[in-house]
Amino acid sequence: MELVSPNELTRPSSEIIEALNQAIAETAITTMLAQNFHWNVTGMGFGPLHDLFQKIYEDHFEAQDDLAERVKAIGGHAEGMLASMIKRSKVNEHNGHASDIEMIKIMAEAQEIIAQTLIGACDVASQCGDKLTEDLCVGRAREHQKFAWILKSHLASG
Ligand SMILES: [Fe+2]
Repeated sequence: MELVSPNELTRPSSEIIEALNQAIAETAITTMLAQNFHWNVTGMGFGPLHDLFQKIYEDHFEAQDDLAERVKAIGGHAEGMLASMIKRSKVNEHNGHASDIEMIKIMAEAQEIIAQTLIGACDVASQCGDKLTEDLCVGRAREHQKFAWILKSHLASG
């Protein structure tokens, strides 16, 4: 009996792998961004923001692993070089010198960027009939939108 890839794709799609590597890069850059803000945040909201940024980088650290292992499961190469990730990521690094409000805005924007990338990856996976990658990307996009909502709720004024 001939072996098939885990989701029974007849061919690994380079387009899916490309989309996943984009999501991995942005998740990894945002992992570092969240840890950077966890360390450098100041102000009266230090305690909860220090904790929230930790929650984000812990979530993202696991997520980048899940996405990369999906790339491997469908026969691709998981891009693991920071230089390449920085180059392709639409989320940018930050020097960590920012007010608490600025950090919240920057992190909310990063969450929305990753969610958009993952929604795009969902569409690519769907077009290729790769339901399991689609499911992974749907779940991850939902998490990023949730973090965006949590972050933006700090800025709402009634
Ligand atoms: Fe810490």
